[in-house]
Amino acid sequence: MSVSTKSSNSVEKAEEYYNSNDADEFYFKIWGGEHIHVGIYHYNNEPIKFASQRIVPKMASCLNLDVFKKVLDLGSGYGGGPRYLAKNFGCHVTCLNLSEVQNERNEQLNMERGLDHLIDVVYGSFEEIPFPDNSFDVIWSQDAMVHSANRDQVVAEAFRVLKPGGDFIFTDLMQDDNVPKGVLGPVLDRIHLDSLGSFKFYWEEARKNGFELMSINNMSQHLVTHYDRVRQETEKQYEEIIDACGKEYIDQMIQGLNHWVQAGNKGHLNWGIMHFKKA
Ligand SMILES: C[S@@+](CC[C@H](N)C(=O)[O-])C[C@H]1O[C@@H](n2cnc3c(N)ncnc32)[C@H](O)[C@@H]1O
Repeated sequence: MSVSTKSSNSVEKAEEYYNSNDADEFYFKIWGGEHIHVGIYHYNNEPIKFASQRIVPKMASCLNLDVFKKVLDLGSGYGGGPRYLAKNFGCHVTCLNLSEVQNERNEQLNMERGLDHLIDVVYGSFEEIPFPDNSFDVIWSQDAMVHSANRDQVVAEAFRVLKPGGDFIFTDLMQDDNVPKGVLGPVLDRIHLDSLGSFKFYWEEARKNGFELMSINNMSQHLVTHYDRVRQETEKQYEEIIDACGKEYIDQMIQGLNHWVQAGNKGHLNWGIMHFKKA
């Protein structure tokens, strides 16, 4: 199945990318298990899985979640964040994601943990969110909007489906606003992107739609550590992971991760939490 959309072919590219067996094996086995986003590292060699889990309670601490709240997660991957929210706050979480391969794993894990009554997994694109206006108390997203070529549309959609007074909270992989033109080519190529957002871009888009800024937490230092840790782990588990994903995929992945580390070290990349409220 593929999303019928008037949106960019970045949606198709993201779907194809995350549905591939190679990506599924790689992200699930190396990136952080059920969490596939940047982690918060307390020390350099920390296991990726522990660092990745840490960002979820940090984001949740900005919100007043309880059993009455309805959360929508945009681009939910394997659903690590949603399971944390459902388990710890009893809130209802809808996972919107366009990879059916990831959605299957997500549903399986929700059942195994006895959380399926609190979590729905829905196939679809966050560029055209398949829910009516004013449906959710919280729109949540972790490192997913990076995949869109229409991030302005995603912000507008988040505003539309959020109830007045609701929270929009997300992390994303972004570029610094002062990056010289043309230097991000190899970074963008790794996940087939045309561009990256930035803190300023999201702030401006959010303001245009009527969001009020609650906070911006720039934690870009963790991005470099994270990509370097993923590269190290891939190299450490090289023989096993090429059996699962193939040598070509893994060699390209290592090269791509190196580009992200180098660009991050030069201050070209940003990552952090952005939190807005719908007035
Ligand atoms: C880096 S993963 C992050 C997954 C999850 N948020 C997490 O932190 O574990 C990016 C996710 O965005 C999803 N995605 C990309 N483009 C999307 C779109 N247009 N609509 C819905 N999901 C999308 C992918 O399927 C993938 O699950």
